Amino acid sequence: MKLLYKDSAHISDQEILIASSAIADYITHIQQVIKTSTYDAAEASVNLPSDNALLQDVKNLVKEKVNNKLKYIIDIGIGGSNLGTKAIYDALYGYIDVLQPERYPKIIFADTCNPVLLSALITSINNDIKDPDEVLINAISKSGGTTETVANTEIILSALVSKFPTIANRVVITTDEGSNLWKAAKEKGYACLSIPHLVGGRYSILSAVGLFPLAAAGVDIEALRKGALTARNENTQSEPLRNPALISAVLLYLHSKKGKTINDNFFFNAQMESMGKWYRQLMGESIGKEQDLKGNTVRAGITPTVSLGSTDLHSVAQLYLGGPKDKLTTFTWTLREPADPAVPDAMVFPNLVEKISGKTASSLLEAIREGVKIAYAKQQLPFMEIVLDEVNPENLGSYLQFKMLEMMYLGRLLNINTFDQPNVEMYKIETKKILSK
Ligand code: PA5
Repeated sequence: MKLLYKDSAHISDQEILIASSAIADYITHIQQVIKTSTYDAAEASVNLPSDNALLQDVKNLVKEKVNNKLKYIIDIGIGGSNLGTKAIYDALYGYIDVLQPERYPKIIFADTCNPVLLSALITSINNDIKDPDEVLINAISKSGGTTETVANTEIILSALVSKFPTIANRVVITTDEGSNLWKAAKEKGYACLSIPHLVGGRYSILSAVGLFPLAAAGVDIEALRKGALTARNENTQSEPLRNPALISAVLLYLHSKKGKTINDNFFFNAQMESMGKWYRQLMGESIGKEQDLKGNTVRAGITPTVSLGSTDLHSVAQLYLGGPKDKLTTFTWTLREPADPAVPDAMVFPNLVEKISGKTASSLLEAIREGVKIAYAKQQLPFMEIVLDEVNPENLGSYLQFKMLEMMYLGRLLNINTFDQPNVEMYKIETKKILSK
């Protein structure tokens, strides 16, 4: 993975060095956290990719629960408990799932309380599922008390239990050890996987939260972890200009100080749209803060947006190129595609668009991407680029770890608590009040 920024981000290396010097001690702290290999610090998620006991627990449970009859993994969770899993699944399989009806197992995500999805799922359970081994339920909630997740679990389980009395055997609960959900699940004899207490939802993709459903769906989680480990080594280096996550954080920070308070994550691999949504949560919850570490009201935040190339050039390019200069864009693209069909030499409609015959889909997209970059440069719009070799589990693992470290650095630069989400609790409390009336 490469970060390109030098001629396009409008920030000099000297400025990066000055800004990053303010958090040099924080990088040393993260290096120390890694040395401990424990989960005792707020940044503990950095130790997930090297936790071999965790990997073994996940593999053991996958071995026990996954068989050749398995068709659907029902992943019940919301926010940090499902966005990372969906990001990886969609990037590898989900984007083209409809074209691969016979590829199993598939993951079905139940996040919000959506009557349409739940009804369709119940119909499918009633009509199509013939054997309990065809389904695996993974209910995931760090707190164990999220309204949507608990309600969805109850609705889906009640449909399954009425058809298969032995369905408990097909359920895995992932939660904080010691949560009420953990205790209740243990009492009922459900299989449980734990989330380390100090690993918050949006930093939990490399814990059992993501590893179990992804491994059950056939994703190479060892490659995912390997990519994350490589990125962890690279992005915790003390030398700022050798640390891409730090550079990216500094660029976001310095531009936000100059009024560029939107970070547009512009993916040229449409299958990474859900990755953009994972990042939206990571950035939104980590740095959108009313108060700084000293309790001053700061209302900090950068608004993360997700765009797809070239799809969104046909919807928002006018705004981006001609509208307010309030964005720092992060283009993300890959060097290679696994397959690359070409426009035939002998075209059916040869006279409609010039010079496309014989060109591959990726070369057309590349021309569009390069055209976009030139247009951004002409309009003096700052951007950086993340370049992956290709979309595969190892590179996705690198991307996730890079972004989680970037966010820790950005939070520290902004002097806010990167790991809490006090204002999210506000609506949860109000919802519970309404439901208890
Ligand atoms: O990142 C977070 O903390 C939140 O988005 C949570 O992941 C989300 O609210 C779901 O919470 P839980 O996993 O406790 O059900």
